[in-house]
Order: sequence, then C-alpha cells, then structure tokens
Amino acid sequence: MTTRKFPEGFLWGGATAANQVEGGYKEGGKGLSVSDCARHHLDVDVTDYKAHNTVTTKDIEDALKSEDESLYPKRHGSDFYHHYKDDIKMFSEMGFKVYRMSIAWSRIFPNGDDKEPNEEGLKFYDDVFDECLKYGIEPLVTMSHYEPPINLTLNYDGWYSREVIGFFERYVKIICERYKNKVKYWLTFNEVDSMIRHPYTTGGLIEDRFPEMNWEQVIFQAMHHQFVASALATKICHEIIPDSKVGCMLTKLTYYPYTCKPEDVLKAQQDMRSTYCYSDTQVFGEYPAYLLSRFKNNGIEIKKEANDDEIMKKYPVDFVSFSYYMSSCSASSADGLDVTAGNTINAIKNPYLPSSDWGWQIDPIGLRISMVDLYDRYRKPLFIVENGLGAKDVVKEDGTIDDQYRIDYFEAHFKAMLDAIEYDGVDCLGYTSWGCIDIISESTKQMSKRYGFIYVDCDDYGNGTYKRIPKKSFYWYKKVIESNGKCLF
Ligand code: BG6
Repeated sequence: MTTRKFPEGFLWGGATAANQVEGGYKEGGKGLSVSDCARHHLDVDVTDYKAHNTVTTKDIEDALKSEDESLYPKRHGSDFYHHYKDDIKMFSEMGFKVYRMSIAWSRIFPNGDDKEPNEEGLKFYDDVFDECLKYGIEPLVTMSHYEPPINLTLNYDGWYSREVIGFFERYVKIICERYKNKVKYWLTFNEVDSMIRHPYTTGGLIEDRFPEMNWEQVIFQAMHHQFVASALATKICHEIIPDSKVGCMLTKLTYYPYTCKPEDVLKAQQDMRSTYCYSDTQVFGEYPAYLLSRFKNNGIEIKKEANDDEIMKKYPVDFVSFSYYMSSCSASSADGLDVTAGNTINAIKNPYLPSSDWGWQIDPIGLRISMVDLYDRYRKPLFIVENGLGAKDVVKEDGTIDDQYRIDYFEAHFKAMLDAIEYDGVDCLGYTSWGCIDIISESTKQMSKRYGFIYVDCDDYGNGTYKRIPKKSFYWYKKVIESNGKCLF
C-alpha cells in the first residue's frame, strides 16, 4: 500500500487580512480605512448580507464622529498590531511555511493620495516580515484586502475614480521597493469580484453618492479600474522583484444544477460564469465575450483609456488563488426550494450537504471539483488562500477548546485537495486556512464567528483580555504540516 502525502515543498500555512486582524487603527500614523468605518449590526439576521453590508454617506459621517471601538470591531481586530510577535511564534509552532496577510494601504498612505509614505507604517511591516522570516515563514501578501483609505471614498468616490489607479500604483511601487528582499508571493486585490456583493468595502463605493446613475455601471467601472491597476501592479512587481509571483484572487463560488433539467443546468452554467468572468479577465488579460455581452445587454459602457486593453493583456497574473468555503445549487426557478446562506450570497440548498451554524453548506468534494475546473480552465498553478469553518467555540472550565468539528471540516477538505493534486493532476502551490487566528468576520463583523486554530479572548464588542489560546485543532494542524499530510491516512 502506498502512503499518501502532499508534494514536497507544499506551502502549508494560514491567512488573515489587516482590516480584520490588526487593530491599532489610529496608531503609528495610520489613516482610517473603509473597514474602520464599517459598524456591526448584531441585531440583524446573519443571512441578511444586504443589511450588514450596505453603507450610506450618513453612516460614514457617524463613524468619523465616533471613537467607539465596540461598534466598529475592525478598529480593534484581534490586536495583532501589538501581538504580532507572539502570534507569528505560534504560527511557527504549528510549522507554517507561509503566512498570507495583507498590508493596510492606509498605514502606508494614510489618505491614499498622500505624496509621501508613512515611515512608521512601512517599519511595522518590515518588523512583521522579519519576524516571519526568522522562523522560515514565507509571507504571501495581499496588496488590497478591503482596506481603501476612507479619504478616497469621501473625496474621489473610491475606485470609481480613474485617479485612484495612480494612487494605487504609487503605493505598489513603495511596498515592492521596500519589501523586495522579503516578499516574493503577492496577490493584487482580494476577491476582486466582491465589488458586486459589497462595493463599499471592496471599492469604497457608496450608492447614495451616485444619484441617478446605473449602479451596476458604477460597480463595473470601478472594477475596470481595479483590473487595470492589478495589471499595472503585476508589471511593477515583476520589474522591481524579478523572481516574484503575482496572483489574482477570486471567491470560488461553486454551483451545481439542482436537477438534471436542462434549464437548471443552464442556470448553473450561467452562475459559474458569473464567478469566472473576473478571473478570466485577469488570467487571459481581456474581458471574456460573455461578460461583454452582459455589459451590452444591460446598457453598461465601460470608459477606458487608450492603452487599458494593452496593459491588461500584457501583464496577466502568474497564478490563480481563491477562497473556497461552500457550494450551492442553481435552479431556473427557486419556487418552493429551500434557500440558505453562503459567502455573502444566499443560494438554493443542496439536500445532500450539511451546513455550518451560519448556513454555509459544507462540501469538501466541491473543493476538488473547484480545483479541477480552475486548473483545466487556466493551466496556471493554484493557491488555496482561504478555506475554513466559521463556528462558535467554547472555552471549557479547564481552559481548553475542543473544536473537533473544525478538525473534521479540515480533514475532509485536505483529503479532497490531495485527490485533486494526486488523481486529477492539479498543480497547487499551497494552502492557507482562513483566519488561522480568530479575527473579525468580514460579512457580519462578529468576533464570535471564529475560524482560528488560535482562540483570541475577545467578544463581539471588543471586551476581553486578548489572550491567545491554542485550540485542539492547533495541535492537529501541527501534525498535518509535520507529516505533510501523511497523518491523514
Ligand atoms: C472571504 C474574505 O470572502 O471570506 C474574508 O476574503 C472573509 O475577508 C472570509 O473574512 C470569510 O467570511 P466571513 O464573513 O465569515 O468573515
């Protein structure tokens, strides 16, 4: 019998984003980001993403007047800003080979449009990278993960403005130059597609600032600017760091036809295309025909500059990274079918799958299917940069946390991942579990929706000691990494 394990050099690790983990929102010269101004709504049903993620100009005015961190949980995050040394040490204890994190743009350029960067912010990430490298942990850095400076929203209308591309270029040049000897793996925009689902956090867009405009047009124009900026970031990164690898990052939503009725199969194909259209653009360097048809049919006209198409074509990404949490079903009519929640979507329930406490349908085989689909489509190495189970964890009287449910989730997903690599021939560079240390949830801004191997003692209002406690899964993941997956079999 042959023993199964992951390929040599497989990059095991964990992932976070500055806006959800760092805190220290006003320290070290940092400016406010859109996420620092996003408040939680703990009284609203967790499946009502619209209510959780719709932000008005009035909301921002209130946020700017408020010093109350308990309402704006991303202002304190998990206080990584002050705990990063201990946290990275714990990552190294688990044996991490890679740590996916993001740089908060507003720590480097507090207002986004500043002429000079903030040295204290740059120094902070120098220290974080040094700490990682001390333990042989490779940083994988997202340039923009829901962190546009709020000034860009208020004075430029966020990514709708063409000018923001230039500000982003300036930021990318600075971080690539500064960290060229420390960071080789980069991602440009986290889930560029999420502009459709939460335009405020992704693009700094607020609907009431665009009266009488077609909102979809606004969103796609902002997304076009991000596509151009992403291509330019890839160019800059390759010029400054010749051996760098730059990836796109997509939300891998996976849809199955609810039945084999051709109408349902067609609907599933359409839903899949609505997921792929963004990575198609970033990998092939041009808008796919079906997205252009969508623009045409919906009266959307993207304003482009003369060389936009050339830039997008010339600087596509080197690899394809994605988040995968769940799958859902598609049907030509949802009448009479159960609907459940997913990653900032609500979708038709699959009767064969269990769901998390937040309604996200748990589907390890869907990960294998997703990997095969992506690899067949793009023939570029994949990197799974987010996956995990959001759950309520309980600290027992003896101070331990028994999160066997999380171990079960990971175990099934890791086996499916290896099946894709070993049996289906998928080239996968690595895997970083989402929220490897508990962080603030993106969609609902809850702390109590925990993903980590490491528990952080803090509640939804920011109360707590912020003490770190390894969960049962911490010791389990350590064994997985140590044996390169061999212990799973
Ligand atoms: C991904 C985002 O889509 O989903 C993360 O990139 C987010 O920022 C993750 O945290 C999980 O979603 P949530 O809402 O459970 O935090």
